[in-house]
Amino acid sequence: MATVGVFDSGSGGLSVLREIRKLLPDDRFVYYSDNASCPYGDKSPEFVTARSRDITDFLISRGAQAVVVACNTATAAAIGTLRSLYDIPFIGMEPAIKPAVSASRSGVVGVLATAGTLKASKYLDTKRRCGTSVRIVEGVGRGFVELVESLELDGPRAESIVREAVGPMLSAGADIIVLGCTHYPFLLPLLRRIAPPEVSFYDPAPAVARRLRVVLQERGMSLGEPYPHTELHASGPDDTLKKLFSII
Ligand code: DGL
Repeated sequence: MATVGVFDSGSGGLSVLREIRKLLPDDRFVYYSDNASCPYGDKSPEFVTARSRDITDFLISRGAQAVVVACNTATAAAIGTLRSLYDIPFIGMEPAIKPAVSASRSGVVGVLATAGTLKASKYLDTKRRCGTSVRIVEGVGRGFVELVESLELDGPRAESIVREAVGPMLSAGADIIVLGCTHYPFLLPLLRRIAPPEVSFYDPAPAVARRLRVVLQERGMSLGEPYPHTELHASGPDDTLKKLFSII
């Protein structure tokens, strides 16, 4: 049995925890929502790195032997620092640009992410490596994180906020839209309704879960007595976290 820490700026990382628990139903998870500091998307990389260090210390104090940075923004800002400071494995988020680029038939791929992720060198490097054969249309999901944190997952206001970010990608002819923020999968029903049926949405969470399983197996950490359990912690009020946890 392994104890895995999972964190995000808020409840978005639950979309990753959902995929992890499908693959590793017998392990133990400690989830931390930093919702008192949410959103991370417009904060400086230094701030996000400092929070990621404090949260990692907390997760280790709760027994974490590996940490999933279930936040694209924190991965982009902090994963290098975390790996250099701690002697445990870190698994981060990577926007699914590579599979999207190979699967796109229209030659246009949309990437929806936070401003922090789209500016980060980690993202720019990935894009440089994958993106020459297709056109990549980026958009910040402005207001998306707030919609999810306030559990406003549908309705006219949510729809107009989502249309504003996705509209330009659809008009440019994107047939695949990469979800580059872990909050966004909670808006998928709305996104699917707005987009034409031929548009697919790519979420890297299943690949992150598979990567975690490999890392745990390589280190012999997933073996032993099953003790499935998830602990939830938040730096602010925990009602959204509990509500979304009950539906994943
Ligand atoms: N869920 C996060 C991400 O994947 C953070 C969003 C935010 O706090 O701005 O980027």
